Amino acid sequence: MSEKIYSKRREKLLNSIDGIAIIGSATHKIRSNDTEYVFRQNSNFYYLTGFEEDNSILMLINRDGVKKSVMFVQKKEPKLELWSGKRVGVKELKKRVHVDKIYENEKFEKILKKFLSHTKKIYLDLHVETPITTRVKNVVNESVHNSKFAYPQCYEDVHHLVNKMRLIKDKHEIELIKQAIKITKTAHENAMKNSLHVEYEYELQSLIEHTFTCSGAASDAYTTIVASGDNANTLHYIKNSDRLKDGRLILIDAGCEYKMYASDITRTFPRDGKFSSSQREIYELVLSVQKRVIEKIRPNILRSELQKFTQLELAKGLVELGVLKGSYKKIVKNGVINRYYPHGIGHWMGIDVHDTNPYFDENAKEIELQKGMVLTVEPGLYLPLNETKIPKKFRGIGIRIEDDILITSNGCKNLSSKIVKEADDIEEFYRNNKKKSVKYAH
Ligand code: GLY
Ligand code: MN
Ligand code: MN
Repeated sequence: MSEKIYSKRREKLLNSIDGIAIIGSATHKIRSNDTEYVFRQNSNFYYLTGFEEDNSILMLINRDGVKKSVMFVQKKEPKLELWSGKRVGVKELKKRVHVDKIYENEKFEKILKKFLSHTKKIYLDLHVETPITTRVKNVVNESVHNSKFAYPQCYEDVHHLVNKMRLIKDKHEIELIKQAIKITKTAHENAMKNSLHVEYEYELQSLIEHTFTCSGAASDAYTTIVASGDNANTLHYIKNSDRLKDGRLILIDAGCEYKMYASDITRTFPRDGKFSSSQREIYELVLSVQKRVIEKIRPNILRSELQKFTQLELAKGLVELGVLKGSYKKIVKNGVINRYYPHGIGHWMGIDVHDTNPYFDENAKEIELQKGMVLTVEPGLYLPLNETKIPKKFRGIGIRIEDDILITSNGCKNLSSKIVKEADDIEEFYRNNKKKSVKYAH
């Protein structure tokens, strides 16, 4: 993405503040002793700068008609760079990011102090305590005694302002999401092709993640779920340690992160390529509801309407199949459906797999779907092995089907529609792909 896009975003945020906004990069996190987790940039910082280095800070100032954008970056230190890689440094960053001033990180306190006088508000990420929020608070606490800084109770949430901007994706972001989905399609197909040739869930996890990185993705977007049989009834099953068995379904919820953008796809398929009749009945029910939810998606509809529809249609289907007894409306009303469908219909997706964009506005009114938003649609039915209230033949089946949907001006586009999903198509896919084989997406 070009610097022009990032600078437009900064400009938009700058125009929505009255004071100083401070957005810090992520910091390295210790895994244990001398080892660190893989570094992943803070999403809001990345959205506004496109810069991937740690120990960096963006400061936007809009005060008394003066607008300024400033960045802080860690200084070049060859001795440290020997261990952890080259740093960009002030000089090089000036060519990349077009802000008014760039300083070394150590100057942050001094510069903040300079801008603090007559400042009404400081916009910080109030959700997390990071080294940068602590540094800001220390400067503010010291400056309270300075008569020119008359607003000690000054904090506003910058997280919310940026997340509101991130809700609507532009065409560049959509292209990156599409590429993430393309890679994810290949990964899911590799898993289906090889499920009969491997023995354990973790082998499929490894195959999926191998496909991600060999296709140009940085990593997974969240820990891959490979849940065979009854394991699928644990919603976020990530142990992936069981032996695969013929006759069981495998639920794979896996997506990659491509140039900082996520995909989030779930497919459920029979290990040996043939659905049993009870597996197919539940599968067809979830699939039919998922397709009908997607058909309903258009601007101005509410996510809660989609959820209500999903609950009612799943309950109706379960009664028709003889899984549950009684009135389907009552099953929804009294909450029994939550035992079998215990989660939401979907979530915003973008730089984060669960994009932290708001679902409600400042007046606690639910935000309507609008062109440019990306939402997952992921109904599921979970019928645990130990659930004695349902007929035996359905116990141990867990199914979720998840696609990534872009809201358009008059409806929506299923960005992951090419990933095999119809029960007959899955069975045919198995018949046509019996040999062990692995492909990559480019
Ligand atoms: N992969 C987690 C979710 O579907 O929300
Ligand atoms: Mn999801
Ligand atoms: Mn998912």
